Order: sequence, then C-alpha cells, then structure tokens
Amino acid sequence: FGYFTYDPGFVSTSSCKSAITYLDGDKGELLYRGYPIEQLAEQCSHLEVSYLLLNGELPTAQQLTDFEHIISHHTLIKDALLKFFDGFNYDAHPMAMMTGVVGSLAGFYHDNLNILDPEHRKITAHRLIAKMPTIAAACYKHNIQQPFMYPRNDLSYCGNLLHMMFATPCEEYEIDPIAEKAMDVLFILHADHEQNASTSTVRLAGSSDANPYAAIAAGIACLWGPAHGGANEAVLRMLDQIGDVSNIEKYIAKAKDKNDSFKLMGFGHRVYKNFDPRAKIIKGICHQVLAKYGNDPRMELAMRLEEIALRDEYFVERKLYPNVDFYSGIIYKALGIPVEMFTPMFAIARTVGWISHWVEMISDPAKKIGRPRQLYIGAAKRTVPGLGERG
Ligand code: CMC
Repeated sequence: FGYFTYDPGFVSTSSCKSAITYLDGDKGELLYRGYPIEQLAEQCSHLEVSYLLLNGELPTAQQLTDFEHIISHHTLIKDALLKFFDGFNYDAHPMAMMTGVVGSLAGFYHDNLNILDPEHRKITAHRLIAKMPTIAAACYKHNIQQPFMYPRNDLSYCGNLLHMMFATPCEEYEIDPIAEKAMDVLFILHADHEQNASTSTVRLAGSSDANPYAAIAAGIACLWGPAHGGANEAVLRMLDQIGDVSNIEKYIAKAKDKNDSFKLMGFGHRVYKNFDPRAKIIKGICHQVLAKYGNDPRMELAMRLEEIALRDEYFVERKLYPNVDFYSGIIYKALGIPVEMFTPMFAIARTVGWISHWVEMISDPAKKIGRPRQLYIGAAKRTVPGLGERG
C-alpha cells in the first residue's frame, strides 16, 4: 500500500537545505550563520542578530543604525487592526489573539505584495519584526482591559515592548536596563532553531506561495503547543503544581510512569542529547535577574528538580536535559510578565527566524510545494454498497 520512507515526527528527514542555523545535538552546539550562540548572546543585541539571520552577515555600525531606524519606523499597526481585538473575550489567550491578528495582516498587505520581488520580501520581514511586539502588547492590554499604548520610536526594541505593556496613558513606565537587557538576550536565544515544528510549519504553509503573514500565523499556532513554545508557560504552571521541594520525588515518579500523562516540562529535546546551550546561558541570566528583583522560590525548586532528575537513571538513559524553556519563565515572571504572555514573548523572538526561513525558501530556485507522502493503512479497494445493504 505504500512505497515511501516512514518517518513519523521527521526524526531523520532533511526537509530542506538551509544556510541559517546549525545545531549539533551531541555537542550541544548552536550557531547562527556560523557564529556561536554564546558569543552572540554576550556581544550583540537582538536587532543585530536579527540582521544577521536575515542577511547572512553581521551589520556594520551604519547598517545597524539604519536597520534599527527601519524597524522602529514600522512598529505602528493600523487603527483598523486594533478593532480586531474587540472580537475577542477579554480573557482570550494572547496566543489565540496573536494567531488571528497576525494572520489578518494578510488582509492589509496582499494585493500589492509580490513575493517574487526581493524588496517586497525584505519589507515583509521588517514589518513583521517591527509589528510583532506591538501586537503582543495589544493582546496583553486587551486581557487586562487597559488602553492600547502606541509604540515609541526613541526606545530600544525591548524597551519599547516593556513600555507598550506596562505604561498607561496616565503613567510613564520607567524602563530598567537590567530588564531590557535580560529580555534582549532571551530574544537572541529564541531567535532561530533551524527546522523546529513552527519553522517547518511556516515553510510548509509558505511553500504554496501563500501570503507570508498567513504563513507566520500558522507558525504562531504551532508554537503555542506545550511540546514546543508553550513549554515556558507549562514549566511555571508545573513548578506551582509541585509547590515544594518535598514533592519533587513524587512528580519525578509521575514523569517516569508511562501510564501517567505528566511530563517534566522544560526537559528533553528532539535534537539536544547532551545539553541545550541556551539553557546554560539562561540559567546565568536567571541568577542576575533574581539578584535584582528578589528571589523567587520557584528558582530553588527548579534547581533542585534539575539536580534530582539529572541523577535519575530514567533521565540519564534517555539523555533528557533541561531545555531553553526550563528557566526562561522564571526570568519573565521576575520581570513582571504574566504567565500567559510567555509564549507570545517566544513568538516575538522567533519571528525573525520564521521570516528568514520563509525568505530562504521563497528565494530558492529549487523550491517545491511541500507535499509529504504517507503509508496508507486503510481499507483495500471495495465497492460502495446500497443504503439497505450496509451495517
Ligand atoms: N518527561 C518525561 N519523559 C520524557 C520527557 C519529559 N519531559 N521528554 C521525553 N521523555 C521520554 C519519552 O517518554 C520517551 O520515553 P520512552 O523512550 O520510554 O518512550 C523518551 O524520553 C524519548 O522522548 P520522545 O518523546 O520520543 O522525544 P521527542 O524528540 O519526540 O520529544 C520533546 C521531544 C521536547 C517534545 C519532549 O522531550 C517533551 O515533550 N518535553 C517536554 C516539553 C518541552 O519542554 N518542550 C520544549 C522543547 S524546547 C523549546 C522548543 O524549541 O520548542
């Protein structure tokens, strides 16, 4: 019934050629355009890294100034788009709103968009990188029933996001450079991760030459799942559920029990079978942020959980290590970001990765529509019986 390689979850199938991100799961190595993630996180800003991912090279000082100017001048969203939020319940999950609102950008940028023109692709990338924080902040303001805050061009990428989330028309928000920097580094770490589920979704959706804003919306929908970007939210909820160090053993046992659906959230990765280099960097930032914002008992709990799990045969045998999302939620929480907004933060950061892959795919002369095959396991050919002959 079938003649094709069967590879559920695509564990051994290269779906494309890509020059953007390299990762070696055994060594725990991650490179963006050849540069180690550790160096980029230490020396560059998120917009510098965004330029690198999009264009293939790090910007010169002048190119960076120009890029920052372009991004800060595309942050506004049309007032008509703001009306979309009125259609959502006040307590709608921000990822549901983001999927809908980002997809609806296709309605604003469609007829005049020529995806075969490199300039059009570039402006699409710039618009998405710029507007994503504005849309995410608008989701948050809708949830807390506060007025939308317009973006400010004089602020940094993350400074502006903090302003749009936490300032009100009555009160300015004082941006703390430590919070701004911590968020910027988290965004670098989340910016790209080669052919993960959401990026593959963007590529597949875009491979039909669909509108790129709609393709990115598909990526946002995929990211939402707790096995992917939704894990950062799930980790915090899990730590709250565990509650106390004395309960850790009980929850480790649940995670190992094949009859229990409970998993250790923020643990395990399809590719990293040594450690996730992003998790190491994040753990370091966690300590810096908590030193400033006061300790969170969940940090102690998370560190004990990691320690106990990494000594357990089950986790050792399966090479399950903390991933990028194990500690990121604790940082976001310390910065005052509510749990529901953790995955939107990931979406903002990953936008440059998604759109860089979309540009790479659309520009590839060998591009084909994505069209996987299957192993058919259904009924053999048969004849439709009359209505009275069934049952
Ligand atoms: N807790 C308990 N057992 C686990 C876990 C976990 N977190 N992760 C994997 N396992 C077990 C799994 O049950 C399987 O056991 P067995 O061999 O006995 O059947 C074995 O380890 C291999 O796991 P898998 O499910 O086949 O691995 P996968 O590559 O299909 O899944 C994963 C990777 C990340 C979806 C999975 O590890 C997981 O669900 N982790 C928790 C969710 C999470 O933290 N996701 C964030 C991923 S990183 C952020 C991102 O980029 O999306």
